[in-house]
Amino acid sequence: MNFFLKIFKLLPPETAHSLSLNSLNILYKLNLLSLIAPNRKTTKEFFFQGMVFKNRLGTAAGLDKNGDFIDALGALGFGFLEVGTVTPIPQYGNTKPRVFRNFKEDSIINRLGFNNKGVDYLVKKLKSKKFDGVIGVNIGANKSSQGDQRINDYLICLEKVHAYADYITVNISSPNTPNLRELHNKDDLKNLLGSIEKKAIDEDIKVPLFLKISPDESNESIDSIIELINDSIFSGVIATNTTIDKTNLQNKKFIDIEGGLSGKPLMTKSTSKLSYIRSQSNDMPLIGVGGVTGKEDYLEKLNAGADLVQIYTGFIIKGPELVSQILSD
Ligand SMILES: Cc1cc2nc3c(=O)[nH]c(=O)nc-3n(C[C@H](O)[C@H](O)[C@H](O)COP(=O)(O)O)c2cc1C
Repeated sequence: MNFFLKIFKLLPPETAHSLSLNSLNILYKLNLLSLIAPNRKTTKEFFFQGMVFKNRLGTAAGLDKNGDFIDALGALGFGFLEVGTVTPIPQYGNTKPRVFRNFKEDSIINRLGFNNKGVDYLVKKLKSKKFDGVIGVNIGANKSSQGDQRINDYLICLEKVHAYADYITVNISSPNTPNLRELHNKDDLKNLLGSIEKKAIDEDIKVPLFLKISPDESNESIDSIIELINDSIFSGVIATNTTIDKTNLQNKKFIDIEGGLSGKPLMTKSTSKLSYIRSQSNDMPLIGVGGVTGKEDYLEKLNAGADLVQIYTGFIIKGPELVSQILSD
């Protein structure tokens, strides 16, 4: 596997991403995935928000935006997969290059801008999947949508995916869609959560809802987010998305690259937001994500109060073996 990882590192990031996931798909179809990811026996099921998880490790949104790799990723041993971010209309995203890997610091900067094949394509993939673990669907707004249309985008996605999702994540925290993060403001967020709540009640949508937040919010802002979540039908929070703060990067050539930073340099910041939420709310359902590149980080997220943990950058940099490494006893 190390040989392949070395080859993938030489390729442009998006080519490496699609080649490695397509290779996983081929191995899965040939029933050969056990060569790189030994089958794990489930030791203890985890019950959370009405869902049953084989284990507490999942993929973070963005890894499989269109649901093209659900069965192969599921076969690696993840307890749950979050697909998306998906938008109502397919979109290309920002111009390339838009993903930058910093191997020395186990990190990535991306400014993809919600490139995806649109919600109808994802729904087709969800209908035909074989993976029987938990599936979360992360929903967002098209770049061209502003104001009420932006809120409407979330409602369109909610309506189309809810029958095929075990939970739904409302993503307001990507730094790569202009002004999206303004939805963290109290009034805007109240409006968004209220509209989603109304839709869910009107259409009897019962799937658990999570809000994915940015690590760049102040604790005061997080206080009002907690209050709004507690007053709504939302179940909980996913903390966190990528950060635009690059000040703790060692390699200065990456500091001026526009986009969201993920991986190791995000761990402390992201975990501190997670533990702040836990300190303010004992029973808020929490999914921790940001900077997990090994088992110690995974345990740190759980100790900080996460009920579940997701990975993205660690998986890209370390490869599929990271899954069994993290889940080993
Ligand atoms: C290339 C890339 C694309 C991403 N795309 C999305 C996305 O579409 N939606 C989303 O909510 N988060 C997205 N993320 C953020 C991740 O889901 C995760 O929150 C963040 O990377 C921190 O976790 P990590 O340090 O394990 O990567 C993306 C991250 C990366 C690196």
